[in-house]
Amino acid sequence: MIKKNRPTTPTFFFLSITAIVFALSLQPPGTAFSAEMDRAGFTSATVCAYCHEDIYESWNRSAHSWSYSDSTFMDAYRHAYTDTKGAAKDLCFTCHAPTTIVTKDFDGAMPITKEGVTCDFCHSVEDVNLSHAATPYKIDVGGQKRASMALDKSRKFEKTDAAHQAAYAKWFNKSEMCAGCHEITNMKGVVVGGTYSEWKSSAYSKGDYAKKSVQCQDCHMARIKGNPVNPSVKKIAKDTVPDHSLSHNLARLAGSVTLEIVKAERADGGRYVVEMAVTNVKAGHNIPTGLPSSSLTLEVEAQPAGAGAVIMRKTLGKTVVDAKGSALFTDVDAYIHGAKISENTSLAPNEKRVVKFDFASIPQGKVSVTGKAYLSNSTHNSHIPLASVEKK
Ligand code: HEC
Ligand code: HEC
Ligand code: HEC
Ligand code: HEC
Ligand code: HEC
Repeated sequence: MIKKNRPTTPTFFFLSITAIVFALSLQPPGTAFSAEMDRAGFTSATVCAYCHEDIYESWNRSAHSWSYSDSTFMDAYRHAYTDTKGAAKDLCFTCHAPTTIVTKDFDGAMPITKEGVTCDFCHSVEDVNLSHAATPYKIDVGGQKRASMALDKSRKFEKTDAAHQAAYAKWFNKSEMCAGCHEITNMKGVVVGGTYSEWKSSAYSKGDYAKKSVQCQDCHMARIKGNPVNPSVKKIAKDTVPDHSLSHNLARLAGSVTLEIVKAERADGGRYVVEMAVTNVKAGHNIPTGLPSSSLTLEVEAQPAGAGAVIMRKTLGKTVVDAKGSALFTDVDAYIHGAKISENTSLAPNEKRVVKFDFASIPQGKVSVTGKAYLSNSTHNSHIPLASVEKK
C-alpha cells in the first residue's frame, strides 16, 4: 500500500526509549513501567512498544496508525467540519480517532488522539454490541488489556508479570471486533461502505469453508513471524504474532481477482466483441469494498495486426446519490449528503461476472486481446494492478 504523509518513525521515540530504560533501571523490580502505563486513561502505543516491539512495528505500518494523521483524512475532515458547521466531528472521530469516544478530545489536543486506531483503544474493548449503532464498543480503559488470549487462555497474570493484567474478551478473533468501524455509516445513517455486512452475507461467515468460518482477522491478521513480547522482557514459547499491519500490501492485493477472456470475435458492421470474466477469488467481502471512491477497473486492449491498439475500460463499484438523486463524486460528500446507494456493481465474494466490451470498429486481420484489472481508491494514490490475461 502506498501511503501519503505517513508520520516518520520519530528519532525522539528511540531517544525516549533510552531515557525510560534508564529511568527503569533505577526502579525496584515489579514496579517497572507503572509510571508509564496510564491506569486511568489510554496509554500511548510507544509505551506498549517497549515490550511488544514486533507488534508495534507492524501496527506502525498499518492504515490504523495514520487514520487520523493522514492528510487525506485531515483534508476531508476539515471539509466536512466546515460543510456541517462542526457537526461532523463526533462522527468522523468515532472511527478515525476512537479514543475520543472516552476522552471527548474532539479538537485533537491530546497526543493519544493523533495515534488514530491505537493499541489501547482495541485492547480496552470489553464488549461489542452492534445493535448500539452509534457506540458499538464498550470500553474499559486503564485497567486490564483485553485479548483473545491466544497465548494462553487460562493463564493468570502475576502482579509482577507485566505492566498490566490481561483478560479474555471473546470478540478479538471475530469479525464483530472490526464491524463497529468497518460498516461505514454516514451522517444520515446510511451505510455507504458495508464491508462487514458484505462479509456477513457471504459464505465466509457461514462456515462453508472446511466447516470453519473465515473471519476478518484470519485474512488480515494472520500470524507472522515475530515475538509477542520482547524476549528481554519475558521469554514466551511462541515466535509468531497476529499481523497488525493488516496484511494490506501489494502482494495481498495481487491475485484477489482472476480474469478470463471467454469470447473475442468479430461481429456485425466491423464490430469486435470481447467478453471477459472477472472473479473475486480472495476477498471475504465485495471488491471493491468500503468507501464509494473505491473502484475496480477492467480494461481490454484490442491490438489488430499492423494497426493501432484500441482500449476500452469499464468500472465496477457503487454510486451514492443525495436526497435529490444526484450522484456524489467524493467520499466527503457521500459521508455528509449520501441518501442512498443507487447502484452497486461491485463483485461479491466468489462471484464471477462476464463483462462485455463492444469495440465499434477494429481493422480486419488477426487481433490480440489483453485484459487487465486494477483497483483505485482515495487511500491508494495510484492504480493497483490486480490481474492480467492475454489472448492471441
Ligand atoms: C476504531 C475503528 C476501527 C476498528 C475497531 C478497526 N478498524 Fe480497520 N480501519 C479503520 C479506519 C478509520 C481505517 C482507514 C484508515 C485510513 O486510511 O485513514 C481502517 C483501515 C483498515 C484497512 C485498510 C488498510 C489499507 O491499507 O487500505 C483494513 C484491511 C482494516 N482496517 C482491517 C481491520 C480489521 C481486520 C479490524 C478488526 C480486527 C479492524 N480493521 C478494526 C478503523 C477501524
Ligand atoms: C484494530 C484493533 C487492534 C489494534 C489497533 C491493535 N491490536 Fe493487538 N490485537 C488485535 C486483535 C484482533 C488481536 C487478536 C488476533 C487473534 O487472536 O486472532 C490482537 C492481538 C494482540 C496481542 C496478542 C499476541 C498474540 O501472540 O496472540 C498482543 C500482545 C497485542 N495485540 C498487542 C498490541 C499492541 C502492542 C498494539 C499497538 C502497537 C496493538 N495490539 C494494536 C487488535 C488490535
Ligand atoms: C513492561 C512490559 C509491557 C508493556 C509496557 C506492555 N505489555 Fe502487554 N504484555 C506484557 C507481558 C509480559 C505479557 C504477557 C505475556 C504472557 O506471559 O502471556 C503481555 C501481554 C499482553 C496481552 C495479552 C496477550 C495474550 O493474548 O495473552 C495484550 C493484549 C497486551 N499485552 C497488550 C498491551 C498493550 C495494548 C500495551 C500498551 C498499552 C501493553 N501491552 C504494554 C508486557 C508488557
Ligand atoms: C477471505 C479473506 C478475507 C476476509 C475474510 C476479509 N478480507 Fe478484507 N480483503 C481481502 C483481500 C484479498 C483484499 C484486497 C482486495 C480489495 O481491496 O478488495 C481485502 C481488502 C480489504 C480492505 C481494503 C479495501 C481497499 O479498497 O483498500 C479493507 C478495509 C478490508 N479488506 C477489511 C475487511 C474486514 C473489516 C473484514 C471482515 C468483515 C475483511 N476485510 C474480511 C481479504 C479478506
Ligand atoms: C463507522 C466508521 C467511520 C466513520 C464514522 C468515518 N469513517 Fe472514514 N473511514 C472508515 C474506514 C473503515 C475507512 C477505510 C477505507 C475503506 O474501508 O474504504 C475510512 C476511510 C476514510 C478516508 C480515506 C482514507 C484515507 O485516509 O486515505 C477518508 C478521507 C475518510 N475516511 C474521511 C472520513 C470523514 C471526513 C469522516 C466524517 C465525516 C469519516 N471518515 C467518518 C471508517 C469511518
